[in-house]
Amino acid sequence: MRDDPLLQPFQLKHLRLKNRVMITAHEPAYAEDGLPKDRYRAYHVERAKGGVALTMTAGSASVARDSPPVFNNVLAYKDEAVPWMRRLVDECHEHGAAVMIQITHLGRRTRWDKGDWLPAVSAGFAREPAHRAFPKQVEEWDIARIIRDFADAAERMKAAGLDGLEIEAYGHLVDQFFSPLTNALDAPYGGSLDNRLRFAFDMLRAIRARVGPTMILGVRFSADDTLPGGFGAEEATILAIRLQESGLVDFLNVVKGQIATDAGLTDLIPIQGMASAPHLDAAGAIRAAARLPTFHAARIGDVATARFAIASGKVDMIGLTRPHIADPHIVRKIMARREETIRPCVGANYCLDRIYQGGEALCAHNAASGRELTMPHVVPRAVTARTIVIVGAGPGGLECARVAAERGHRVVIFEAAPEAGGQIRLQARSPRKREMMGIVDWRLARCREMGVDFRFNALAGEDDILAEDPDVVIIATGGLPQKDVLVAGDDLTVSAWDILSCDAKPCANVLIFDDAGDAAGLQAADVIAAAGGKVEIMTPDRTFAPEVMAMNLTPFMRSLQKRDVTFTVTFRLMAAQRAGNQIRARIGSDYGGVEKERLVDQLVINHGTRPLDELYFALKPISSNLGAVDYDALIAGRTQALAPNPGGAFQLFRIGDAVAARNIHAAIYDALRLAKDL
Ligand SMILES: Cc1cc2nc3c(=O)[nH]c(=O)nc-3n(C[C@H](O)[C@H](O)[C@H](O)COP(=O)(O)O)c2cc1C
Ligand code: SF4
Repeated sequence: MRDDPLLQPFQLKHLRLKNRVMITAHEPAYAEDGLPKDRYRAYHVERAKGGVALTMTAGSASVARDSPPVFNNVLAYKDEAVPWMRRLVDECHEHGAAVMIQITHLGRRTRWDKGDWLPAVSAGFAREPAHRAFPKQVEEWDIARIIRDFADAAERMKAAGLDGLEIEAYGHLVDQFFSPLTNALDAPYGGSLDNRLRFAFDMLRAIRARVGPTMILGVRFSADDTLPGGFGAEEATILAIRLQESGLVDFLNVVKGQIATDAGLTDLIPIQGMASAPHLDAAGAIRAAARLPTFHAARIGDVATARFAIASGKVDMIGLTRPHIADPHIVRKIMARREETIRPCVGANYCLDRIYQGGEALCAHNAASGRELTMPHVVPRAVTARTIVIVGAGPGGLECARVAAERGHRVVIFEAAPEAGGQIRLQARSPRKREMMGIVDWRLARCREMGVDFRFNALAGEDDILAEDPDVVIIATGGLPQKDVLVAGDDLTVSAWDILSCDAKPCANVLIFDDAGDAAGLQAADVIAAAGGKVEIMTPDRTFAPEVMAMNLTPFMRSLQKRDVTFTVTFRLMAAQRAGNQIRARIGSDYGGVEKERLVDQLVINHGTRPLDELYFALKPISSNLGAVDYDALIAGRTQALAPNPGGAFQLFRIGDAVAARNIHAAIYDALRLAKDL
């Protein structure tokens, strides 16, 4: 352990970082009124307790009012941020973690209809596809004002006791000056490379003048935006060298790529199924050229790769950012030589996608992350051990088993299939989604270590359950695809799941009717198109696959567009009728007034699941609570005590899709918040 490269301290100016593992800036969107209040603080403190050397708070903390919060950013332009930030810093310091903050002006990467409704600004008129604002081109008074805003924000953050500051300089205003694609200005801030870099250096000088020579200052920028005519590797290397020569900054934090489009963001922050550590070499090249302490993060998903990144000398600090969302105690587990117990980040990217679509970062399979005020990362032992019987070893059932076992209960889990995993196992059939099995495998390993009694190939009935003499029974049987949604011809359709499980063979000309809008529809399309089928995806919604969020959509589109899959929005499949060897599909619209037909070989329906709940209803009359959940107690974290049938032998609950079709996170959250109080 003494020789572990990851556990060696790193001296950054006057600051001794206790090991080489950091969390890079990431805005989880937990701010309240733009302030890092209790929830925000608890999130970072948990990770400080877990042993990380440095946590870079915020992520795009905004320095100016015309950089309004587009994903609930911390507002570094507010004086009220200082006391909240100070509490966060002090508590993280108590656990030995250094704390910095990333500040920025978003430039055109925002919307004008947020915050104070000021026009978005940029170094030119080019609109950013992802956020859609048409920016105002900055005038000289904007430049002077924004430089002052940066210096003011830096001074506030110094007053909050932060160990350092990072300037976000990729995809935001600073880099909009760098790139000829977004900088349409004349001299002195546009034109030559010197001119395009001028804003950054003017701003850094203004910050230095305000915070003094000792405050640690760094810049996060792209080693190559990879866009034709953009800010490429050569210019980025010159920037790095100039930063070093200027003496203005103490570290570099290197990313690679661009973030103006969803696809660009996905390449810069790769998700599951994409290459591991794809930008490490680019970071190493910048470090070699600039000879400044260098930070880096991009899908370094496991400890071995992180160790390599440090041991190879490519970078000085390695960011394990999403891995720390999945497991806040990574360093502590490395130090305890229990790396195998680290909950793996499976790259599902629910966290990042959700800051836009759901308004807060949540981990697909750690329901305690971001809920540190109410959910435990380490489950305390129960005072009294009980017998908990769980039916179903999908994600919800497994989480329930893990948590109940950590409470010290005796746990028996019945599963009708020969293996655990439920719906995840189906998803993981797609090579791009294979990592999802980490959600299952981690829980299986934890459960086995704690002696959970697994009964596979066991279709549990009432008697099997009663034979265990349970105190609590949890039904986690999931659901079955719901496909009968037509006014006529349901017998002529198959479900998306039938395609994924290979129960239905893909045909040549296929219409997928997808009004669930989740990944199953796209995954089925992928399978059919890969087998040579021609696929049309039809949805009655305004957009296709509305439940598949931006970055998760990228790999799907890369695959489906290549295979000529087409998308039809705002139309509804009404009925199906046999027509010789084919099926005639009758199509209407919720908007009314149109009817059309399609002749296809196969109709695939994606319409969520119906709870598999027979066993639940069979057990309900003999349970003490008649299946009732005390929601107030559940939310407040109190024990479930409803007993409308006091003679009942056990408490009965159901979780996940056995209640209603939802997603993996919902099933795991159901399980954690119920089982932690059993
Ligand atoms: C929820 C979330 C929000 C993020 N917000 C920011 C941000 O505001 N600024 C930034 O520079 N990077 C941001 N990132 C990117 C991370 O700093 C990091 O580069 C990325 O997650 C890749 O590292 P990882 O594979 O270790 O997670 C964000 C990441 C996540 C998951
Ligand atoms: S949601 Fe997925 S990518 Fe994000 S931390 Fe959790 S496992 Fe990792």
